[in-house]
Formats: sequence, structure tokens, C-alpha cells
Amino acid sequence: MKAVQRVPLGAAMALLGLIACAEEEAPRAALYPADFMSSWHEARDCRHSHEHELNHIRVFANDLAKVPYDTLSADQPYLPGATLVKVQYDDEDCTQLLGYTVLARQAVGYSPGTFDWRWQRLDAEERVLEDGPHLPRCLACHAVHCTPPSGAGFELTCADDSAPVRAP
Ligand code: HEC
Repeated sequence: MKAVQRVPLGAAMALLGLIACAEEEAPRAALYPADFMSSWHEARDCRHSHEHELNHIRVFANDLAKVPYDTLSADQPYLPGATLVKVQYDDEDCTQLLGYTVLARQAVGYSPGTFDWRWQRLDAEERVLEDGPHLPRCLACHAVHCTPPSGAGFELTCADDSAPVRAP
């Protein structure tokens, strides 16, 4: 009799386990994988940001974004899937995480006129704060400060020697 009772209990536990698993495996809202810091290229190591006087940043590029971001030239265009993540920190050693901003190149036609970028901003817990093809604050700053003649960037991405700017 005991053995019979154990079966439904076991089944119930298994079901609970499945439900818990399903919750844990909800799709990530972030446009980059959880392990990007170890699996992507560190395109810019910990340094002072031109964007925020007191912030420090690291920039990561996936395989598709690495060469275009290093080159910043029309000879090496960003292809759909190319993604860049800027991680922002409060301290100069890049230990106190503040949040993330992302540029993810979508299919041709996603956002004509702004190079089909999808922009995303997340807090330190990776909760999405802003997301979409037309985030006016991001676009305005990148269009001016990262783009020649003020900046040396390419297709709205920035170069390290872009003109220093203060966040509005
Ligand atoms: C005040 C100007 C400014 C604003 C606003 C801004 N950025 Fe940037 N962004 C920069 C600068 C300058 C860089 C170059 C790296 C640095 O010095 O911080 C940069 C770099 C980046 C990078 C790394 C790739 C690259 O182009 O160098 C990403 C990704 C990014 N920004 C996304 C965003 C998103 C998303 C937003 C809006 C939520 C945003 N940015 C708003 C100025 C700005």
C-alpha cells in the first residue's frame, strides 16, 4: 500500500519540478546571452565613458559585430544579428554594476533610416527599461556625438575618440 501512495506523490513532485523549470526557463528579455562576458569579444576594456563623466564602461561585441566595431568603416558593414553591449559601472575598476545598453542589428527594413538597430536599456538586474527601434534619447546622442564630424563612429555606433558628452 505504501508503494502505491509513493507513486502519486512522486508524480506530483515531478510535476512541481517541471513547473518550476518552466518558470526558470522563461525567454530572456535581454538581447544578449547570459554568458556574453565570457563568450563574446571584449571590444573595449574597463575605461572611462565619454557619455557620463563619472561612469566607467566595458563594451562587448558578438562575432558578427567584432570586426565592424573594430573597423568602423563601410568596408565592414554590420549584418543582421551583430550585437554590441555596453556595461556601465559606478567605479573605475568596473566592479559596481549600474546597467546595460544594447545595440542589436535586426533584419533589413526593421528601422529604415536608422540602420535597422534595435536599442535596449536594462538595469543592473537585467530588467528592460527601454526597448525598440526609436529610442529618441539614444538616437539623438549617437547621431550627433558618435557620427562624423563630431565623432568617428559608423552607422550610429561610437568610436572611443567620440566627442566627450554629458548625458542630458
Ligand atoms: C549622451 C549621449 C549618449 C546617449 C544618450 C546614449 N549613448 Fe550610447 N554611447 C555614447 C557614447 C559616447 C558611446 C561610446 C562609449 C562611451 O564612451 O561610453 C556609446 C556607446 C554605446 C554602446 C556601445 C557600442 C558603441 O556604439 O560604442 C551601446 C550598445 C550604446 N551606446 C547604446 C545606447 C542606448 C541603447 C542608449 C539609450 C538607452 C544610448 N546608448 C544612449 C553616447 C550616448
